[in-house]
Order: sequence, then C-alpha cells, then structure tokens
Amino acid sequence: MHLQINPHIARLICSRTGEEVGNNDWSRPIGLSPAGFPVTIEYDLGAVASLSVATRTGLWTHRNLLPVWNVPDGYAADVGTTPTIRSAALSDRLGVDLWVKNENTNPSGSFKDRGLAVGVALGTALGAQGFFLPTQGNAGVAAALFSTRMGLLPCEVTMPEGYQGGFYHRAVEHYGGNVTFAGANIAAAGVAAREAMAGEVAAGRRVDLSTFFEPGRLEGKKTMGLEIITQFEDTLPDWIIYPTGGGTGLVGIWKAFTELRAIGTLRTDQKLPRMAAVQSEACAPVVEAFARGDETVSGVTSLGTIADGLDVPGAIMGHSILQVLRESGGTATAVSEDAIEGAFHDFARVGVPAGYETAATLAALETLLRSDTIEKGQRVLLLNTGGPSVALAKSMP
Ligand SMILES: Cc1ncc(COP(=O)(O)O)c(C=O)c1O
Repeated sequence: MHLQINPHIARLICSRTGEEVGNNDWSRPIGLSPAGFPVTIEYDLGAVASLSVATRTGLWTHRNLLPVWNVPDGYAADVGTTPTIRSAALSDRLGVDLWVKNENTNPSGSFKDRGLAVGVALGTALGAQGFFLPTQGNAGVAAALFSTRMGLLPCEVTMPEGYQGGFYHRAVEHYGGNVTFAGANIAAAGVAAREAMAGEVAAGRRVDLSTFFEPGRLEGKKTMGLEIITQFEDTLPDWIIYPTGGGTGLVGIWKAFTELRAIGTLRTDQKLPRMAAVQSEACAPVVEAFARGDETVSGVTSLGTIADGLDVPGAIMGHSILQVLRESGGTATAVSEDAIEGAFHDFARVGVPAGYETAATLAALETLLRSDTIEKGQRVLLLNTGGPSVALAKSMP
C-alpha cells in the first residue's frame, strides 16, 4: 500500500493562534501545535477542482478534501454515505420538517468510523506503526477496527477503570485492540496513556488518536458536512442539532461548509444551517461557556450522564466550537437526563434507531421549539451519531 499525502494541502495551522505549524516535510506524524493546541489542515482550495471521484464508494468519495490518498477500497468503502431520512411521524408531531442522518450504518456502528478511518490512514502515511487513545466509548472500537484493517500493531486503548468487562471493552478486543484500564474518567485515562506511550510518540512510531490530538479525525468527521451538502443540495436545513462531546463533528461539519463555499460548490447566496450544540445538564461545559460569552471552554466536573459520548468535561477545541456556534448564528442547550431517556423511547416508538446521544438532540429540539429559537415549519437535521445497541446492552441485567 503506497499511501500518498494529498498534494493540495497548503499548510498546517494552529487552530488557536492561527500560526503555521512547522515546516512539515511529511516525514513524521502530526501532533498538537508547539503552543499545545489542535492542528488543522488547510487545502489549496483553488486547486481542488471538484469534490467527488465518481468511481469510489464510501469515505474516499471525497478524496480531494481528505489529507491522504491511495487508500484501498476495502479499507473504508463501507464508511460514510449514510442515509439522511425525513421522519414524517416526528415532523407531524413537532410541526417542523425533521430529518435524521443515520450514522449507525457505519461498520463499527457509529460516526466515529469516519474520523478514525482518516486518522489511522494519515498517521500510517506519515510513518506510524501503531496508534493509541483513551476512550470511554465508540472511538476505541473504531480505532481498533481501522488499525486492524490497516494491518498495523494492535491499537492500545486505555479506558477508565469502571469500563472493565463492559460493552466497549469487549468490542475493542473483538476488533483486535489491547485494552488497559486507568483512572476514574477519560481525562485520567488520557494522562496515563500518554505517560505510557511518551517514548513511542517521540520516536514517531505511535500516534495519539485522542480527540483533536492529530488532525485526521477532524478531516474524517468533516465528511458528514460534505454529505449533508450533497444530500440536501439547494434545500439545506435551517438548523443542525449536534450531540456535542469533544466537538469534532460540529467543527468538522462547519469546516466542510467553509471549504465547499471556497470551492464554489456552495453559492455565496446560500444560507448555511445554524448549528446547535446539545449536551447533558450533568456535563455541559460548552453550553455554559456559550451562555457566558466565553472564548474558550473551561473544564467542569461531570455528574455522569447516560449518554457516554457526551460525558466530556472539557474541550481542547472549545475555542473553535464556540466560534462555529456564533458564526452560524446557532446556540447551545443542555437537556436533563430524564429528557434524554424520554426521547430515547420516543425515537424507538417511531422506528428510528437512535442511542442516548442522539436522543439528546430530539430533547434539545423540543426545548428550542418551546423557546421559539427554532420556529415551526423550519427544516431541522438531527445527527444520529450512533444506534441504541450500546444503551440496550448496558441495561441488560
Ligand atoms: C454516539 C456519540 N455521539 C456523539 C459523540 C460526541 O462527539 P464529538 O466528539 O464529535 O462531539 C460521541 C463521542 O464519543 C459519541 O460516541
């Protein structure tokens, strides 16, 4: 396999300072910027002639806007191109034009496949032999899956102590990952994983796939935004409601819109969707920072939420999340654990396969309708980031 770096990449920049990062000769994996913030990839958009390569299926349909090329079809042909379906039942009930993008058709069952497929491919193209990450959920499963597909060393996955024997532990091992346990939460697991892997990272052998610690995951999540534009064409949603943890999807979708506007796929007179971030009241650092008008997201103490993917008490890319919410004229809202549980069952009653994180988006829509932030008749897209199987497995005796 001769992976190739996209020749249309113009530069790598520090997402916080805007400074160009290093003089990268593509000889080693990319980590955080020297200032300690996430690095983002900028393309020479004038040179990117078109979005699609028609002969491909799956994620690399969008290869002109992905950082790595020559990825074999079998690696990620089944990732992405997920169905976006109108729910007539929920539209009627709520008085909006409601659409759901169903990410659980991805191979490991969640939208995490998009980011991890690109993160693993990019790290491999830059010489890594293996990967590691802390996780309390779907990201570890996807990282193990794509490390195996790439034929690399087993992915080293660190989980908080309480996850021993649980669904995610078993799923990571199922796809060939090695699991260790450390600390009470993902932050503590991350500290332990980074300490254990410091030598490997310094040597360029292993890449830290933690959210936003390398730029590939953001590029992969961006493909949700590319698909939203191709799926809705001239009738874009008025609102997109996104279940926000680390915020990769939210920032990624907006990056897609920005790039497509620069290329000319999106006309300058087309009104972009407003972005709404939803979190649980039990762990809402983004919502609190947005309400205060802050520029960055400060850490909180999570009280614990049934929506694992939203149990993220800080956000290293908080500055970009808040910028997207404000630039899009969007908002951030927190919903109660009871509302999440209720919406989980509401989805099931109309036959939509949604997990707790997605349930939070439906609960948020109801809140935003009550406050007239979203108006009756508007077109709303909910991101169904993962299905109900984890929630159902967890509630088994
Ligand atoms: C199902 C699900 N939805 C949403 C999220 C939050 O995603 P993001 O990091 O893009 O904010 C996660 C993250 O773990 C998740 O697993």
